[in-house]
Amino acid sequence: MFLVGSLVVLCGLLAQSTAQLAGVPVPLGQDVPLGQDVPLPLPPNPTQHLAGSFTNALSGGLQSKGLLSILEHLPLLNILKSGGGTSHGLVGGLVGGLLEKLTSSLPLLNDILDIKITDPQLLELGLVQSPDGHRLYVTIPLGLKLEVKTPVVGSLLELAVKLNITAEVLAVRDNQGRVHLVLGDCTHPPGSLQITLLNGDTPLQSLVDSLIEILTKVLPDLIQGKVCPLVNGILSQLDVTLVHDIAELLIHGVEFVIKI
Ligand SMILES: *[C@@H]1O[C@H](CO)[C@@H](O)[C@H](O)[C@H]1NC(C)=O
Repeated sequence: MFLVGSLVVLCGLLAQSTAQLAGVPVPLGQDVPLGQDVPLPLPPNPTQHLAGSFTNALSGGLQSKGLLSILEHLPLLNILKSGGGTSHGLVGGLVGGLLEKLTSSLPLLNDILDIKITDPQLLELGLVQSPDGHRLYVTIPLGLKLEVKTPVVGSLLELAVKLNITAEVLAVRDNQGRVHLVLGDCTHPPGSLQITLLNGDTPLQSLVDSLIEILTKVLPDLIQGKVCPLVNGILSQLDVTLVHDIAELLIHGVEFVIKI
């Protein structure tokens, strides 16, 4: 009797695996005892995860390309100090020319002995899709602190800087039909720079005012000039499947970034 029972089971298993081999779908759920409800997972929205995967990939890319270290080593002092004329160097003529005008009217700049950048931060990226669905706007919120040494004994000015860079991302199709994500405009929107003095009262108010004025003119372009090329590089190195999925949605104007 035992033997017969085992044989029946064995035959059953054989039948099942034969059915599987033959490609006949074996009904699932047969093994679940009756009356026991197995909650079915909600069918996932296939595009829902894309926004998160995209911002995670960008954020990870910025970190792994050394964004924080780049912020910490911005040649800020050099730029401020070299405002006197030469337009060689990392930032180029635009900022150089601007500073030329600034420094002539702001001799207080000579009162800065040193500027140290500390505590660089990349906060959580924001993602918005354009109303027509064809573009993405990535907000990259950055933060850092400046420690400014002045000749006044014991006076170390501490400033907190926050800046949002906004990168526009578009989908393009190359002539072989492959889709890519590319960087469009990459800017700092008006009002996206905040500079606050951290160490309260200072007898150097005029220096602080001058400093903030100069930083307001110099920092956004300087930071943007570093961050935007990074974003460009990251977009070209993203996971192919992710790029493909997002680009197809953008090309067809399908909304997939959930509005909060
Ligand atoms: C940066 O953008 C975020 C939204 O993504 C906003 O909450 C924040 O106030 C902005 N910061 C600045 C300095 O504009």
